[in-house]
Amino acid sequence: MDFNQAYTRACQILKTSSQTREEKLQELCEFLQKEMPNYDWVGFYFASEDAATLHLGPYAGEPTDHVVIPFGKGICGQVAVSGKTFLVEDVWAQDNYIACSVNVKSEIVVPLYVAGRNIGQIDIDSHTPKAFDASDAAFLTRLNEAIAALYE
Ligand code: SME
Repeated sequence: MDFNQAYTRACQILKTSSQTREEKLQELCEFLQKEMPNYDWVGFYFASEDAATLHLGPYAGEPTDHVVIPFGKGICGQVAVSGKTFLVEDVWAQDNYIACSVNVKSEIVVPLYVAGRNIGQIDIDSHTPKAFDASDAAFLTRLNEAIAALYE
Protein backbone atom coordinates (compact mmCIF):
# COMPACT_ATOMS: atom_id res chain seq x y z
CA MET A 1 0.00 0.00 0.00
CA ASP A 2 1.41 3.44 -0.88
CA PHE A 3 1.72 6.30 1.60
CA ASN A 4 -1.28 8.25 0.31
CA GLN A 5 -3.59 5.25 0.48
CA ALA A 6 -2.28 4.39 3.93
CA TYR A 7 -2.79 7.95 5.15
CA THR A 8 -6.39 7.99 3.89
CA ARG A 9 -7.15 4.66 5.57
CA ALA A 10 -5.41 5.74 8.77
CA CYS A 11 -7.56 8.89 8.96
CA GLN A 12 -10.68 6.74 8.59
CA ILE A 13 -9.51 4.61 11.52
CA LEU A 14 -8.84 7.71 13.62
CA LYS A 15 -12.34 9.04 12.92
CA THR A 16 -14.24 5.91 14.00
CA SER A 17 -16.52 7.50 16.56
CA SER A 18 -17.50 4.25 18.29
CA GLN A 19 -13.94 3.62 19.51
CA THR A 20 -11.84 5.06 22.30
CA ARG A 21 -8.54 6.77 21.52
CA GLU A 22 -6.64 3.66 22.66
CA GLU A 23 -8.76 1.41 20.46
CA LYS A 24 -8.13 3.64 17.45
CA LEU A 25 -4.38 3.65 18.04
CA GLN A 26 -4.42 -0.13 18.50
CA GLU A 27 -6.24 -0.60 15.20
CA LEU A 28 -3.86 1.84 13.53
CA CYS A 29 -0.82 -0.14 14.74
CA GLU A 30 -2.31 -3.39 13.46
CA PHE A 31 -3.19 -1.79 10.12
CA LEU A 32 0.30 -0.33 9.58
CA GLN A 33 2.05 -3.52 10.65
CA LYS A 34 -0.06 -5.58 8.24
CA GLU A 35 -0.16 -3.28 5.23
CA MET A 36 3.14 -1.40 5.13
CA PRO A 37 6.04 -3.39 3.75
CA ASN A 38 8.87 -3.73 6.30
CA TYR A 39 6.84 -2.33 9.24
CA ASP A 40 7.40 -5.39 11.44
CA TRP A 41 6.71 -3.76 14.82
CA VAL A 42 4.59 -0.64 15.20
CA GLY A 43 3.90 0.99 18.56
CA PHE A 44 3.42 4.14 20.56
CA TYR A 45 5.29 5.35 23.63
CA PHE A 46 3.92 8.17 25.78
CA ALA A 47 5.95 10.48 28.00
CA SER A 48 5.57 10.91 31.72
CA GLU A 49 7.34 14.25 32.12
CA ASP A 50 7.47 14.13 35.92
CA ALA A 51 9.17 10.73 35.95
CA ALA A 52 11.17 11.43 32.75
CA THR A 53 10.11 8.07 31.33
CA LEU A 54 8.36 6.75 28.25
CA HIS A 55 5.55 4.21 28.63
CA LEU A 56 4.47 1.68 26.03
CA GLY A 57 1.00 2.27 24.61
CA PRO A 58 -0.81 0.39 21.85
CA TYR A 59 1.43 -1.71 19.62
CA ALA A 60 1.36 -4.50 17.03
CA GLY A 61 4.09 -7.10 16.65
CA GLU A 62 6.07 -9.22 19.07
CA PRO A 63 5.66 -8.37 22.76
CA THR A 64 8.54 -6.28 24.11
CA ASP A 65 10.14 -6.19 27.57
CA HIS A 66 10.68 -2.45 27.16
CA VAL A 67 7.43 -1.10 28.55
CA VAL A 68 9.17 1.76 30.41
CA ILE A 69 12.15 3.60 28.87
CA PRO A 70 13.99 6.43 30.68
CA PHE A 71 14.36 9.69 28.75
CA GLY A 72 17.73 9.62 26.97
CA LYS A 73 17.98 5.83 26.74
CA GLY A 74 17.77 4.05 23.38
CA ILE A 75 16.45 5.56 20.19
CA CYS A 76 13.07 6.25 21.80
CA GLY A 77 14.55 7.93 24.85
CA GLN A 78 16.75 10.13 22.68
CA VAL A 79 13.70 11.30 20.70
CA ALA A 80 11.93 12.12 23.96
CA VAL A 81 14.81 14.52 24.69
CA SER A 82 15.54 15.89 21.20
CA GLY A 83 11.97 16.14 19.92
CA LYS A 84 13.30 15.19 16.50
CA THR A 85 12.70 12.24 14.19
CA PHE A 86 15.41 9.58 14.49
CA LEU A 87 15.93 7.34 11.46
CA VAL A 88 18.32 4.42 12.03
CA GLU A 89 19.52 2.47 9.01
CA ASP A 90 21.46 -0.07 11.07
CA VAL A 91 20.43 -0.41 14.70
CA TRP A 92 23.48 -2.52 15.57
CA ALA A 93 25.77 0.37 14.63
CA GLN A 94 24.11 2.57 17.30
CA ASP A 95 25.79 2.84 20.68
CA ASN A 96 22.64 4.04 22.46
CA TYR A 97 20.13 1.45 21.33
CA ILE A 98 17.76 -0.84 23.24
CA ALA A 99 17.34 -4.17 21.44
CA CYS A 100 13.82 -5.60 21.48
CA SER A 101 14.60 -8.50 19.18
CA VAL A 102 17.70 -9.84 17.46
CA ASN A 103 15.67 -9.74 14.23
CA VAL A 104 15.40 -5.95 14.17
CA LYS A 105 17.76 -4.28 11.68
CA SER A 106 16.43 -0.74 11.26
CA GLU A 107 14.12 1.62 13.09
CA ILE A 108 12.37 4.98 12.84
CA VAL A 109 10.97 7.01 15.72
CA VAL A 110 8.87 10.12 15.07
CA PRO A 111 7.78 12.43 17.90
CA LEU A 112 4.11 13.10 18.54
CA TYR A 113 3.42 16.78 19.18
CA VAL A 114 0.20 18.04 20.71
CA ALA A 115 -0.13 21.83 20.92
CA GLY A 116 3.65 22.19 20.65
CA ARG A 117 4.46 19.59 23.35
CA ASN A 118 6.35 16.38 22.59
CA ILE A 119 3.97 13.94 24.34
CA GLY A 120 5.28 10.69 22.91
CA GLN A 121 6.21 8.99 19.69
CA ILE A 122 5.48 6.36 17.10
CA ASP A 123 8.18 3.70 16.87
CA ILE A 124 8.57 1.37 13.87
CA ASP A 125 11.03 -1.55 13.76
CA SER A 126 11.97 -3.50 10.66
CA HIS A 127 13.65 -6.85 10.08
CA THR A 128 15.05 -5.36 6.86
CA PRO A 129 18.22 -3.23 6.91
CA LYS A 130 17.74 0.41 5.76
CA ALA A 131 13.98 -0.12 5.55
CA PHE A 132 13.09 3.54 6.10
CA ASP A 133 13.83 6.82 4.36
CA ALA A 134 12.63 10.41 4.26
CA SER A 135 9.29 9.32 2.73
CA ASP A 136 8.53 7.24 5.83
CA ALA A 137 9.53 10.16 8.03
CA ALA A 138 7.19 12.47 6.10
CA PHE A 139 4.34 9.94 6.21
CA LEU A 140 4.69 9.30 9.94
CA THR A 141 4.99 13.03 10.70
CA ARG A 142 1.74 13.64 8.82
CA LEU A 143 0.13 10.69 10.57
CA ASN A 144 1.17 12.02 13.99
CA GLU A 145 -0.38 15.38 13.11
CA ALA A 146 -3.68 13.57 12.48
CA ILE A 147 -3.27 11.62 15.74
CA ALA A 148 -2.62 14.85 17.66
CA ALA A 149 -6.19 15.91 16.85
CA LEU A 150 -7.37 13.09 19.15
CA TYR A 151 -5.65 14.82 22.08
CA GLU A 152 -6.83 18.38 21.50
N1 SME B 1 14.62 -0.01 20.03
C1 SME B 1 14.01 0.99 20.87
C2 SME B 1 13.31 0.36 22.05
C3 SME B 1 11.88 0.10 21.82
S1 SME B 1 11.61 -1.32 20.91
O1 SME B 1 12.10 -1.08 19.54
C4 SME B 1 10.03 -1.73 20.87
C5 SME B 1 15.05 1.97 21.35
O2 SME B 1 16.25 1.79 21.15
O3 SME B 1 14.64 2.95 21.97
